[in-house]
Amino acid sequence: MAASPAERMSRRYSRRTVEVRDPHAELLADFRAGMLEAPRSLPPKYFYDARGSALFDAICDTPEYYPTRLEASLLERNAAAIIEAAGADTLVELGSGTSRKTEYLLAPLERAAGEESLYVANDVCPEILDEAGERLLERFPGLTIHALAGDYGAALEALRADGAAGQDGARLFTFLGSSLGNFEDPEAIELLRAIRRTMGSDDHLLLGLDRVKPVDVLEAAYDDAAGVTAAFNLNLLSVLNRELGADFDERGFRHRAPFNHEESRIEMHLVAQVSQKVRVEAFATTLELEAGEVIRTEISRKFDAKMIDRLLSASGLRREREWLAGDGWYSLLMLRPDPAG
Ligand code: AVJ
Repeated sequence: MAASPAERMSRRYSRRTVEVRDPHAELLADFRAGMLEAPRSLPPKYFYDARGSALFDAICDTPEYYPTRLEASLLERNAAAIIEAAGADTLVELGSGTSRKTEYLLAPLERAAGEESLYVANDVCPEILDEAGERLLERFPGLTIHALAGDYGAALEALRADGAAGQDGARLFTFLGSSLGNFEDPEAIELLRAIRRTMGSDDHLLLGLDRVKPVDVLEAAYDDAAGVTAAFNLNLLSVLNRELGADFDERGFRHRAPFNHEESRIEMHLVAQVSQKVRVEAFATTLELEAGEVIRTEISRKFDAKMIDRLLSASGLRREREWLAGDGWYSLLMLRPDPAG
């Protein structure tokens, strides 16, 4: 009897949750550290509930958000060379989202490794992993997919615990979309070092980094005319309302995304439009926000050559190749663990 789609799905697709800590406890700790008094901030991973993940996907289709298109064009043109240079049968992706750009890499991976080809996809959003998995199984009949639901640290820890079970070839790790830009230097270095610790000596890391460019281009990319980025930013408040029993009113806040020149980064802000009280049941407390007060919800760093060199040498990674898009507006780096690092 032919296998039903669901059975085929379970044979070639599996998903497990890899959170190291209870995700709710993590949100409580982050909210306590960042939100109880001004200046207020939260880490960006809480954007990505099912609605936030769909909104991020819609951001990638706005005319202003150039990073996705530039990175996709670099991947499209160089995917075969990347897979060949990596000699990989396994692709491990941190922050895989819809995996749409990843298809450029999966095509030559499957051509080279056939039934041995494995895609380990990691994202904080389980719904988006399942959706992407279903689409990829159709398109790549030889591919096996292991989905890891959880943050980067949890995924890397799970990978280290598993070892390279059953795979003969090398692995290509990917960390695309300039998501490294969400982290200040100490956390970025810690994350790159955790990736390096997880890699074997034959493995490669493909890192996508957004670069410094004219400020009007940067600011438009994070404040598109259709308001998709604004909706994405404001959706964080509904996540907090649901998860913490809070009563943030989206109408009381505005989306802002200024470029901070000193720090070379876009900052995503939610700005209180009026002074307001916000009840937060999980903390049995009421926040008092002043008119004009800012909640910083994300940083998105824009890199120059010096910043990149510093990060790589501090992380024990060595550059093997680099591809630039347009006027140096976006870069893809092919990296290896530096035995001396
Ligand atoms: C997915 C984190 C790379 O920083 O450009 C897009 C997220 N935020 N628009 C970025 C984002 C607002 C994006 N990253």
